[in-house]
Amino acid sequence: MQKNILVTGGAGYIGSHVTVRLHEEGFQPILLDNFSNANKSVLEGLKKITGKVFPCYEGDVLDEALLGKIFSTHQIQGVIHFAAKKAVGESVEKPLSYYKNNVSGLITLLEAMMSHGVAQLVFSSSCTVYGQPDELPVTEGSPKKPANSPYGNTKQIGEEIIEDTVKSGQRLQSIALRYFNPIGAHPSAAIGELPLGTPNNLVPFITQTAAGLRKELTVFGNDYHTPDGTCIRDYIHVMDLADAHVQCLKHLETLAENHHFDVINVGTGNGSTVLEAIQSFEKVTGKKLPYTLGLRRPGDVEKVYAAAEKAKEVLHWQAHLTLDDAMRDAWHWQQKISGSDKSPM
Ligand code: UFG
Repeated sequence: MQKNILVTGGAGYIGSHVTVRLHEEGFQPILLDNFSNANKSVLEGLKKITGKVFPCYEGDVLDEALLGKIFSTHQIQGVIHFAAKKAVGESVEKPLSYYKNNVSGLITLLEAMMSHGVAQLVFSSSCTVYGQPDELPVTEGSPKKPANSPYGNTKQIGEEIIEDTVKSGQRLQSIALRYFNPIGAHPSAAIGELPLGTPNNLVPFITQTAAGLRKELTVFGNDYHTPDGTCIRDYIHVMDLADAHVQCLKHLETLAENHHFDVINVGTGNGSTVLEAIQSFEKVTGKKLPYTLGLRRPGDVEKVYAAAEKAKEVLHWQAHLTLDDAMRDAWHWQQKISGSDKSPM
């Protein structure tokens, strides 16, 4: 019997890639998405890759009745919870919307899980909880820093809510995966990242610029204390990230205890500067990227990259794909959605 896994935000960027891997690993993904930051075309992409149409509920994680219906209709083994807002800048302007979606949404989901006896939860957290770490690479034991945005705060609060629920004696086995910087797309280019409006994140901005949709990229600051002066991040291919979720579910299944909470970094362990990311893109695509060196972006941390040992020990997972792989796949995806450059690479 296939195990049903509820994927909230299953039509989103990471959720859709996880859905593919769940299917490939023999799980039955059940999707819930309100399509506020996802497009219905993602479902076509999923069908193209897997040949399957997965049950997909259009609705909100705040909708108790809908959650009740899903949990009563399908015997759900575990939940992977992505459904959340994720734009740092927008969260500063609309904090209540972020707290409602990300915090109340999680509480509503946990209540529904508890009342239907569903114990396994993978929570989508972020390396943003570390702020600018005092030591690198950053381990899971590093102190959390005060969040510098409501978005970041919702990830910290989310982890605490789950941990407190576990401590209270509820039957809940959960791992918060702290993602570093997910980039890239499925190698088939049938699914990928679909940012709404002007992208905030580096790689969609790079690919849109290369496709001629943006004039040029601004590199936010070149006076940081890094080898070339630009910020350092741990860019992880979204397919590697997707694998980590499947491994996490498999790990939760092996746990003897009914009450469990842990946090695990999901990164490559390698840091790359913004200029190195641009060079990687130019190398794999053969395209020259127009960019200028600009001012620092307020709120950016200087450098952060993961200590990846815990994921290896606990989840038997490590990243296999490179920055070049991710840039190549992100570019294929951009070409597919913009249709602006069909030249072979
Ligand atoms: N950058 C540019 N120009 C751009 C966009 C980004 O130079 O147009 C730089 C940023 O300054 C940063 C790097 O590229 O140095 C990566 O920026 P991203 O916006 O892609 O990613 P961030 O690391 O800033 O943010 C990501 C997630 C957030 C999360 C954060 C946690 O997008 O959701 O990591 O550290 F909160």
